[in-house]
Amino acid sequence: MSTLTAKEKVDTYIQEQADVDLLRFITCGSVDDGKSTLIGRLLYEAQMIFDDQVQSLRADSKRQGTQGGEVDFALLVDGLVAEREQGITIDVAYRFFNTDKRKFIVADTPGHEQYTRNMVTGASTANLAIILIDATQGVLTQTRRHSFIVSLLGIKQVVLAVNKMDLVGYDKDVYADIVESYSKFAARLDFDSIEAIPLSALAGDNILERSANTPWYSGPTLMGYLESVSVEEASVEGALRFPVQWVNRPDANFRGYSGTIASGRVTQGDAIRVLPSGVTSIVEDIVLYDDLLETAATGRAVTLTLKDEIDISRGDVIVTADRPCEVSDQFAANMVWMDQDEGFIGRSYWLLLGAMRVSATVTDIKYKYNINTFEKLSSNSMSLNDIGEVSLSLDRAIPFEPFSDCKAMGSFVLVDRYSNATVAAGMIKFSLRRAQNVHRQALMVDRKARESLNGHEGKVIWFTGLSGSGKSTVANALEQVLHQRGVRTYILDGDNVRHGLNKDLGFTDADRVENIRRIAEVSRLMVDAGIVVLTSFISPFRSERDMARGLFDTNEFIEVYVNVPLEVAEDRDPKGLYKKARRGELPNFTGIDSDYEAPENPELDIDTAVDTVEVCVERILAYLDLEK
Ligand code: ADX
Repeated sequence: MSTLTAKEKVDTYIQEQADVDLLRFITCGSVDDGKSTLIGRLLYEAQMIFDDQVQSLRADSKRQGTQGGEVDFALLVDGLVAEREQGITIDVAYRFFNTDKRKFIVADTPGHEQYTRNMVTGASTANLAIILIDATQGVLTQTRRHSFIVSLLGIKQVVLAVNKMDLVGYDKDVYADIVESYSKFAARLDFDSIEAIPLSALAGDNILERSANTPWYSGPTLMGYLESVSVEEASVEGALRFPVQWVNRPDANFRGYSGTIASGRVTQGDAIRVLPSGVTSIVEDIVLYDDLLETAATGRAVTLTLKDEIDISRGDVIVTADRPCEVSDQFAANMVWMDQDEGFIGRSYWLLLGAMRVSATVTDIKYKYNINTFEKLSSNSMSLNDIGEVSLSLDRAIPFEPFSDCKAMGSFVLVDRYSNATVAAGMIKFSLRRAQNVHRQALMVDRKARESLNGHEGKVIWFTGLSGSGKSTVANALEQVLHQRGVRTYILDGDNVRHGLNKDLGFTDADRVENIRRIAEVSRLMVDAGIVVLTSFISPFRSERDMARGLFDTNEFIEVYVNVPLEVAEDRDPKGLYKKARRGELPNFTGIDSDYEAPENPELDIDTAVDTVEVCVERILAYLDLEK
């Protein structure tokens, strides 16, 4: 079973059960808090476990259970997970159960390392979160982090499940302290209700029936509460938001747009608008398999046909004509960082929002939260599990809704361009006004005119390599030759630029990313001025070199890898910096304790340990084609 089919299964299930009372929830807690045991217990109590499973569970519990022969529910859930995980990666397992009163879907989020990511995935559709606390441990940083994320994801109802009460002798003071400490913390989060319940998932206290072990507790049992808590229905009225998942064109006679209604309602004859293009039309048919519907609302997966033949592609959004959503290329968003590798201001990622995929850069980290104190911390990078508010800039404008208005149109993930790993999940707060108020100014003297005056094209020769590899030496020699030939040139050199434009930057990864971002932008201006720019920076990261390359047309950007072995560069040590670094007096030194990611496909690969400077210059000149 793949993730997709699991998701499809959920979608179909929800569709079928549209008119049945349904609660979707998530359980948050680390493995040791008893998450698996709790889910196992709920399934068992709801009698959703088949007899043969119970038999084998009893046997397994005797053999490998940790509960002295008693039924170990964790084995059940972990067993199911293991089954599902054979040969496939599944982020979230959805479990279904029902009682006489209600149906339930619980998003189980297995895994330790990827826990935050799975939790975000699972929580994105939940109405309620069970925050599990181990009574022997109390409120932990982890508890606060999970609660914080739950709150950011717009979940308003929380059950504080104080588990393992049996291990603290059902002590009411222990319980009261935990509830008080949590309530104090959570008062600053955006929850509507927090229901605290003392329980033992293992012993079954306060799960289905009120426990005799907690006579001091008069609130609901867990199942009782889950059965009766009110479920807020997603609004089906209001303006239509229909992200187009795919264009359905089986033959020349039919052209439909398929997707799931993110919010609102669509009815035959409605006037619609397609975003971002803004083109309008009228809804002709609403198709569901072989049926035609008159109308359809939030959550329905349908295919729409329109009166006019207009150009619509995957990722476009169909909206109510006179109530369109915003379209923007800059946002403020809350973001949770989920990758081992840090995220930096200025680095480019893929942003996926619904069926849209665009290039995105974090342009600012306004603050990160200290999740224990709510303090806002300034930072220029995001590390694993960090939560903060950021500004994002996209390479094109996309239609969206603030997350608080529409989860489906306001949540996104960032994906690493090289590893394809999902590195962050975000919730859009609002579009940045500056995006709407800054327009390009048309100028009369253009690049062509400047190039023709110069007698050659503008280009970038991007030298990259270790400190001491010979970048500046070769760039310098090359510039002299070009200058003699009447070529207008300029050298941007790390050591020089770091005395002016970039003197605020040091050598952390984040600062190097910003260093190269600025140089790439300056190079772009200079190329626009018709100049041949020679940049001489270590530029150690592939990501930023590729970003720089992306600012130019093919043939305009020539990456020259000055490829000498570390030993040679270290032996030369023109500034004595390697020695300092080896003595431990210069941290983050490239090649010693800071990475250099060698180019994979540079236009030129030169080795100053083998070839003379003249030979290197000749090779670059031969490659350059400066004629018009
Ligand atoms: S980059 O990594 O951000 O591209 P850049 O080329 O601007 O670096 O600057 C590198 C130069 O700064 C080196 O040639 C060296 O003279 C000096 N330098 C000082 N500290 C470091 C360091 N920790 N790592 C690398 N270079 C350093």
